[in-house]
Amino acid sequence: MTARFRRPRGGAASPGRALRVLVVVALVVLVGCGVVDSVRGEEVSTVGAVDFDQELAIPPLADSTTDTDGTRVFDLTTQAGQREFSPGQVTDTLGINGDHLGPTLRARSGERVEINVHNQLDESTTMHWHGMHLPAEADGGPHQAIEPGGRWSPSWSIDQPAATLWYHPHPHGRTEGQNYRGLAGMFILDDEVEAALELPRDYGVDDIPVIVQDTRFDSDRQFEIGNREHAGMLGDTLLVNGTLRPYLEVGHERVRLRLLNASTARTYAFGFDNDRTFALIGTDGGLLAEPYHTDRVRLSPGERAEIVVSVEPAEHVVLRSYPPELGTSGFTTRQSGGDDSFDVVELRAGASLQNSPPVPERLVDVPRLDPGDASQTRQFELRSRTINGQTMDMNRVDEVATVDTVEIWEVENGHGQVHNFHIHDVQFQVLDIDGEPPPPELAGWKDTVFLPPHASIRLIMRFDDYADPSSPYMYHCHLLWHEDRGLMGQFVVVEPGQQPAPPDHDH
Ligand code: C2O
Ligand code: CU
Repeated sequence: MTARFRRPRGGAASPGRALRVLVVVALVVLVGCGVVDSVRGEEVSTVGAVDFDQELAIPPLADSTTDTDGTRVFDLTTQAGQREFSPGQVTDTLGINGDHLGPTLRARSGERVEINVHNQLDESTTMHWHGMHLPAEADGGPHQAIEPGGRWSPSWSIDQPAATLWYHPHPHGRTEGQNYRGLAGMFILDDEVEAALELPRDYGVDDIPVIVQDTRFDSDRQFEIGNREHAGMLGDTLLVNGTLRPYLEVGHERVRLRLLNASTARTYAFGFDNDRTFALIGTDGGLLAEPYHTDRVRLSPGERAEIVVSVEPAEHVVLRSYPPELGTSGFTTRQSGGDDSFDVVELRAGASLQNSPPVPERLVDVPRLDPGDASQTRQFELRSRTINGQTMDMNRVDEVATVDTVEIWEVENGHGQVHNFHIHDVQFQVLDIDGEPPPPELAGWKDTVFLPPHASIRLIMRFDDYADPSSPYMYHCHLLWHEDRGLMGQFVVVEPGQQPAPPDHDH
């Protein structure tokens, strides 16, 4: 009972619908027989078993042109392709301007960008700029569908600090499959504050994107979803920037890794094989106020972390994912990947290394949002298929926020499974988790936060601008199977007193 993602070979049947029907039938059967809880008995570990025989691919920086008015213009094309992840073994893939994954977009705070997204898939898609503060109609959520052969050209001004963001499709009910097969890329923002700090920033040299996805290959070397666990599709193999078994040559004493969890369901706890400490310098929305020296960083799907690690001449050190602390118990831990571990990428230091300055003790100002300024508190309770008892409805606006106000969102995981929570448009701060102040890794700007079973997290955010009563933004669980099944809601930002309008669709 497995479902393959293959390119359709003509015919009218929709592989997406066939897949959904198959999954629903399978779940009904499994739940009915009470065997869903025993599907996945084995823990996964690739520790010590990875050959590191392929050089880590570095996604190219996307080309851009500059318009007469100074707008930086990018062109992205979604397309089907094939990739030999291992020599001689061909896998059907999706990519952006290539076979698999997409180029790294890069822009400066204050700059205006325009991105022409051409869809050359044979299904509709969208392109969402995850972590970006921008007008809702440029956000690339499920309302901004791009039909096969179509083009969509959003434009906005970058108005937020230097950060590691990313982009991926967000089609209604079909995000998991498109993301899994390779539609994702990094979006790096720069600014003057970051540029003035002594940090590694030579892209692909000592500043390295690390896009981590777990996958499963079937016997024909095709991407397989197979039996999803409660969290979703949990793979047994990692692709890092689309590279299997990767190594990275390091020529500097310190290297900055921009870790992006672009997996559909899996949460990682990244660290190094000898438990060396590293400096966590940034999270989803930008740099921290000061580096946090730690030996682990947990990332659930969609989250990012920037870390700086030191290496000694000629040593090999492995970035690993340890069994992540998920807050689950019993068999749920096994089924959510809480027992699993992976070797991610081997860093191979050169015999002589170029000097790198130590990581600065102070990084940036992170002004705290004040709960006393909040004009509204909202509650969200996540369960297996619902938020506040409802599944996603494209035609229902769930929440209406007023422009230029601060709000507190109390997000609760109402059952025993893992989730996380992502909000479009804003970067938020974590006020507390079960009443406790956030740990240092959650003290900066975030747009996605892990939500352990039964936990309650209070988030605070400001809706600065971009009122538009008819274009909703999304909030959702970023475990993509959950999202696709309806763990998502919509909000609009309006002028004071304005009423929301029925959502505009582009199709
Ligand atoms: Cu990364 Cu709503 O998305
Ligand atoms: Cu979820």
